[in-house]
Amino acid sequence: RLPRSDASHSGELGVQTIGVIGAGLMGNGIAHVAAASGYKVILSDVSSDRTEAAKATIAKNLARGLTKGTIDEATIAAILARITLTTDTAAFVAADLVIEAATENEAIKVKIFAELSPKLRAETLLATNTSSISITRLAAATDRPDRFTGLHFFNPVPVMQLIEIIPGLATSAETTAAMHRFVAALGKTGIESEDRPAFIVNRILCPMLNEAIFALGDGLGSVVDIDMGMKLGANHPMGPLALADFVGLDTLFSILQVMQATTGDSKYRPAPLLVKYVEAGWLGRKSGRGFYDYSGEAPVPTR
Ligand code: 3HC
Repeated sequence: RLPRSDASHSGELGVQTIGVIGAGLMGNGIAHVAAASGYKVILSDVSSDRTEAAKATIAKNLARGLTKGTIDEATIAAILARITLTTDTAAFVAADLVIEAATENEAIKVKIFAELSPKLRAETLLATNTSSISITRLAAATDRPDRFTGLHFFNPVPVMQLIEIIPGLATSAETTAAMHRFVAALGKTGIESEDRPAFIVNRILCPMLNEAIFALGDGLGSVVDIDMGMKLGANHPMGPLALADFVGLDTLFSILQVMQATTGDSKYRPAPLLVKYVEAGWLGRKSGRGFYDYSGEAPVPTR
């Protein structure tokens, strides 16, 4: 995966500059792949500490390729030079597409879009990286629901090949087509999902992760045996408990809650052990403890 540092995106799409709101795990990954594909990127968050930490993470992740010889220092410098940091969303007047990757909280996202949209040029496209909130409802908080889609990336963004494209009720066919072209320009594969809770991948993945936590809570097997079972028995790259820790137990909990609330189907109820872990603040990798303890050199199973 050699970054196309000299790629030019002034063509049919009309998208040359990408705005990314939120410099967390997903936001820095999106900024990374967009800059590596030749786009100019404006990355924003509420504080410059957060945006600078994100740029340092991008530099660290790009440097993974140095020892493998898939990238050189000059290419890394060119990619990083395309990323501008800001704490002022007025900077997005220069953006052709703005992707929101803030916290998975509907009130926060609605506030961001309501404040942002009047500052943008009329032709600028908008997207959200939400994993479970209604695209149609978020689009309605903007002045351009026809130019709005869901663009759902997967973690780690530089590695994962898929992006889900989710048109809302009012999204125009041109906007959806432009998003397909953008996804292809990032070197990723796009699939299109209806605007329903959790879309395609999380609808199937999250109940599987939840089931693994039910199984652990029921005493069916240990953390190691459950994870080994799915790695070697189903060829998953990570066991479900390790993956739940990787995604974040609070994120998994919130997606399951949305699925249960919007469908009324009890099959999506979060496993009691998941609820307890979230209550304890054991949120997986990001908090240092989940089904594994991450405080040492290598993760250690906790049950
Ligand atoms: N940034 C850049 N590159 C990264 C990276 C990162 N954050 N993390 C890993 N990599 C690269 C490595 O450099 C390596 O590159 P190479 O193949 O060119 O040598 C490659 O990825 C593999 O990494 P490692 O050798 O360190 O580790 P693994 O082989 O164990 O792979 C993994 C790590 C890619 C995370 C793999 O375990 C995996 O694919 N796990 C499943 C991930 C998954 O399912 N993600 C989706 C979660 S669901 C989601 O995101 C949706 C949300 O809404 C909840």
